[in-house]
Amino acid sequence: MSIRVLKDKRVLLGVTGGVAAYKAAILASRLTQVGVAVDVVLTEAATRFVAPLTFQAVTQRPVYTDLFELEVDPGSGELSIPHIALAKAADLLLIAPATGNTLAKLAHGIADNLLTNIALATPAPLLIAPAMESDMWAHPATQTNVATLTERGVTVVGPTAGHLASGAEGVGRMSEPAEILEMARVVLGQAGDLEQRRVVVSAGGTREAIDPVRFISNRSSGKMGYALALAARDRGAQVTLVTAPTSLSDPVGLKTVQVESAAQMRDAILAASSDADALVMAAAVSDYRPIEPAHQKIKKGEEGLTLQLSRTPDILAEMARLRELGRGPKIVVGFAAETQDLLVNARDKLQRKRLDLIAANDVSAADAGFSVDTNRVTLLSADGTVDALPLMSKEEVADEIWDRVCRLWETG
Ligand code: CTP
Repeated sequence: MSIRVLKDKRVLLGVTGGVAAYKAAILASRLTQVGVAVDVVLTEAATRFVAPLTFQAVTQRPVYTDLFELEVDPGSGELSIPHIALAKAADLLLIAPATGNTLAKLAHGIADNLLTNIALATPAPLLIAPAMESDMWAHPATQTNVATLTERGVTVVGPTAGHLASGAEGVGRMSEPAEILEMARVVLGQAGDLEQRRVVVSAGGTREAIDPVRFISNRSSGKMGYALALAARDRGAQVTLVTAPTSLSDPVGLKTVQVESAAQMRDAILAASSDADALVMAAAVSDYRPIEPAHQKIKKGEEGLTLQLSRTPDILAEMARLRELGRGPKIVVGFAAETQDLLVNARDKLQRKRLDLIAANDVSAADAGFSVDTNRVTLLSADGTVDALPLMSKEEVADEIWDRVCRLWETG
């Protein structure tokens, strides 16, 4: 998986002494797998829970524990001080798990080990994932320390509720590595090229009720729309994701609005788009809905069943019209899901709906379109540019689309 915000990044992972330290090894492994250079710093207490060798093996890099150890530069032969070199090189300082003790030191600027020295010396943003017993978390001293850190611009993820090391249930579990990784993307992307931009993305296939238990829908998995929302978030945008039901979990670091029908999606998009910088409609919106959904479950009869359908609102066309009146999103992007005459149909939609850009998608191909993680799209712009992109991950397609939206903003 290639995620642009993580490419060529250096994350300094600080691990402190809590049972959740074993989950930090999973985190180090995930970060390494997506191409991040992970330098791990363990406190003395952390080494009691997980051996440095574990982190060395998963990151394929040296692991640091000792404040007083000087390093020799193999090229120049000069001595360097690890905490200063590590602090300067990091794009992000991530401390997971962060004990109550380390939180207190961070809040007060105490530097008594390698990790807390780095925390004082680094210009990198700080992300912390606390983990401790619920009484320690709830203690006013800890809460005050967390408030101090948050005010200072530190991002805190978790802790969550659940089973704790003591056997009790409560708030204090470290967030799962997947969620911490998502937050790392958010923090790394904060000063990205979509900073200060407000964007709206739609995803999933709408559901049009036939009766209380049945609906009309389509094969959309929501993956392309979610990838667009995450890519924008990773580049620093404020994102509203308006999504029809999918099997994907709500992403962190953005606003998700769950809807079912085309009419609900229209209302949510209208509410979110009036002062948005861009709207990207990746949702597969039902074009028709049953005119009068039955209030009770329809029982089977002897004969066939005829459903009367009516057109749903064309959300994209409406937003593009509003934009022309100065009330809609500044840039309007659509998708054309086609099974034949791809470019002819896509160009027709681009012009008819008065869009800036359309992503033409042959959904009959096995490696593109519904449910799969890859896509092959051709991007057609209102200025006549046609850009046939090769097969790539949906994350990469999303970044290509935002690159073009950025250019449209620049050219006004
Ligand atoms: N769309 C929309 N509202 C609808 C239908 C579609 O906003 N009621 C948006 C989709 O999100 C997509 C674009 O319009 O970005 C193209 O959708 P598509 O269904 O492929 O095009 P249609 O205009 O509905 O044309 P057709 O069904 O004839 O292919």
